Amino acid sequence: MAAPLYGVIGFPVKHSLSPAMFAAAFWEYNMNATYEKFEVAPDALGDFLADARRRPISGLSVTIPHKTAVMDYLDSVDTHASVIGAVNTVVNKKGKLKGYNTDWTGAQRAIEDVMELKDKDVLVLGAGGAAAAIIYACGNAGARVTILNRTLDKAQELAERFGGGIKVGLLSDILQYRANLLIHTTSIGMGPDAERSLVPVEFFRKGLIVFDIVYTPLENRLVREARRAGCRVIPGYKMLLYQGEKQFELWFKKKPRTDKMEEALLRELVALDR
Ligand code: ATR
Repeated sequence: MAAPLYGVIGFPVKHSLSPAMFAAAFWEYNMNATYEKFEVAPDALGDFLADARRRPISGLSVTIPHKTAVMDYLDSVDTHASVIGAVNTVVNKKGKLKGYNTDWTGAQRAIEDVMELKDKDVLVLGAGGAAAAIIYACGNAGARVTILNRTLDKAQELAERFGGGIKVGLLSDILQYRANLLIHTTSIGMGPDAERSLVPVEFFRKGLIVFDIVYTPLENRLVREARRAGCRVIPGYKMLLYQGEKQFELWFKKKPRTDKMEEALLRELVALDR
């Protein structure tokens, strides 16, 4: 029998680190499964998913730019994913495709490795797609969330999506805020942008925990300055790792060796840093 097929859909998708993570997970259990990259242009998404039902593709990771659009082509979407407005995981159950979101559980687990969220003040920088899953995770765990964004309207829109209780403000006013946890969710500080940071160095103080979801490079300016100021840092790659861990659980109904997935991911990230 052909090995069950899994994969990641994105556009572009060639830089995805998920194949390395899942190869390590499959290897550890000597699993007869393969995981591929599928580069799918936005206008080909519907056809690709119709074909995925039949082929069959047993499960998919979904990445940019398909996380919201994919919802239109699924048979059902779990409640958390529909509140967040994004699906990053698809499970093919006998030809029916169900969508889940494991970004929010991934974020929550990454944070809860380091601190409890209940009754803590969390400042989220940015109001895009990544922020939505993170804000949902923090709210779900009982934290008090404030979104700071360059454009106030977008922060307001996102806060309203999750019902009352979330405050909003302008990123340029960041020095007026105090928090237990600062989460940076924009792409500023990624790749060639590594020396750009949205956080003035005066904001950092001992006791603040800092989570920058950027993981290429492993240490950008924001993270370096936070560490220097005595902040504890949650590595950005942990969200990627734990969202993958949860995908594995959804597909195979068992836990992966997350430590082996982490080793594989870090090998890739260290190589990219060189
Ligand atoms: P994603 O889905 O990856 O989170 P996105 O939806 O494009 O990406 O969201 C990008 C976020 O980065 C937004 O919060 C955006 O701020 P605006 O809502 O004001 O556009 C933020 N962002 C992008 N470039 C920025 C910059 N130069 N300074 C501050 N914020 C920036």
